[in-house]
Amino acid sequence: MERRASSPMAAILVYIAVSMAAAYCSSSVSAAPSTSFEDNFNIMWSEDHFKTSADGEIWYLSLDNNTGCGFQTKQMYRFGWFSMKLKLVGGDSAGVVTAYYMCTENGAGPTRDELDFEFLGNRSGQPYLIQTNVYKNGTGNREMRHSLWFDPTEDYHTYSILWNNHQIVFFVDKVPIRVFKNNGEANDFFPNEKPMYLFSSIWNADEWATRGGLEKTDWKKSPFVSSYKDFSVDACQWEDPYPKCVSTTTENWWDQYDAWHLSDSQKMDYAWIQRNLVVYDYCKDTERFPTLPVECPLSPWE
Ligand SMILES: *[C@@H]1O[C@H](CO)[C@@H](O)[C@H](O)[C@H]1NC(C)=O
Ligand SMILES: *[C@@H]1O[C@H](CO)[C@@H](O)[C@H](O)[C@H]1NC(C)=O
Ligand SMILES: *[C@@H]1O[C@H](CO)[C@@H](O)[C@H](O)[C@H]1NC(C)=O
Repeated sequence: MERRASSPMAAILVYIAVSMAAAYCSSSVSAAPSTSFEDNFNIMWSEDHFKTSADGEIWYLSLDNNTGCGFQTKQMYRFGWFSMKLKLVGGDSAGVVTAYYMCTENGAGPTRDELDFEFLGNRSGQPYLIQTNVYKNGTGNREMRHSLWFDPTEDYHTYSILWNNHQIVFFVDKVPIRVFKNNGEANDFFPNEKPMYLFSSIWNADEWATRGGLEKTDWKKSPFVSSYKDFSVDACQWEDPYPKCVSTTTENWWDQYDAWHLSDSQKMDYAWIQRNLVVYDYCKDTERFPTLPVECPLSPWE
C-alpha cells in the first residue's frame, strides 16, 4: 500500500467540543492531559524499562532482549472516550509490537473482552501497520489492518477509542479508521457488559508481526522505545459493585445520540480510509470465514 504524505481530510475534521460542565455526571471522570502518570497508571511489569521525561509529561516504554514493559490504568471504565498520543519505535523496529488496548483483565483469560490497537513495527523505511481487534468473552479473530497516511515514528499522533453501547470506533488523529457496531440485541460479538482497564505495552512478536514473521527482531538495535503523552479519559468510571453511570439518559457526550453513529464529516473520512488504507479486513476474508461472522453485515453508516 502506498503511503500518503498528507491527509486530504485534515480540513474537514471537526473535533467534538466537550464542555466539561455539560458532560459532568457523578461518576464520569476526565483526566487532564497534564495529569501525572502515577495518578492514572500502574506499571504492570519491568519497572526498570519505564522512564519519564524530567517534567513527567512524556513516558517511555522500552524493549530489549531481556524484557518489554507495560502499564495499565488504576481504574476500570465502562463506555467513554479514551485517548493518548504515541510516538512509535523508529528505525529498524521489525518484530516489535506496541500495543495500546482496553481489556477486562490484566491477562489473557478465556472470558475477557478486549479492544486493541497494535502497532506492528517494520524494517527501516518500511511502513508500520496498525492492527485493531475486538474480543468478546475470550474470542477475538476480528482483525483489521490499516496502513497510515503518516510515519508514526516521526511524531506524536493521537489514538483514541470511543465506546458506547451502539458502536466502538477506533480513531487516528480524530479520523475514524474502524467502526464496530452493535445490533442492539444480546450477542456474542459486542463487548458491553464488563468494565475495562486501559493498557499499553511493548513486546517482541517476531514470530508473527512483521511480514507474517519473516522479519525477525534485530536485537543489536535495542532498546526499542515507544513514547506516550497526553492521556485523556472521559468515561464512566466503574465503581464496584454498581456503576452509577450506565444509562444513556445521562449527559455524557460519548453516550449521546451524536456519538451513536459517525457524523457526516466523519463518514467522509471513514470512506476515504476504507478506499485507500485498509490492508486486511476479516469481514472480507471468506477463505478464513466461509460463513462470515454475524456482525459483518452491520452497516457502519447508520
Ligand atoms: C542481550 O543483549 C546484550 C547487549 O547487546 C548482550 O550482551 C546479551 O548477551 C544479550 N542476551 C541475550 C540473552 O541474547
Ligand atoms: C463465555 O465463554 C465461556 C468459556 O469460553 C463459556 O463457558 C460461557 O458460557 C461464555 N459466556 C457467555 C455469556 O457467552
Ligand atoms: C513491512 O514492510 C513490508 C514491505 O513494504 C510490507 O509488505 C509489510 O506489510 C510491512 N508491515 C508489516 C507489519 O509487515
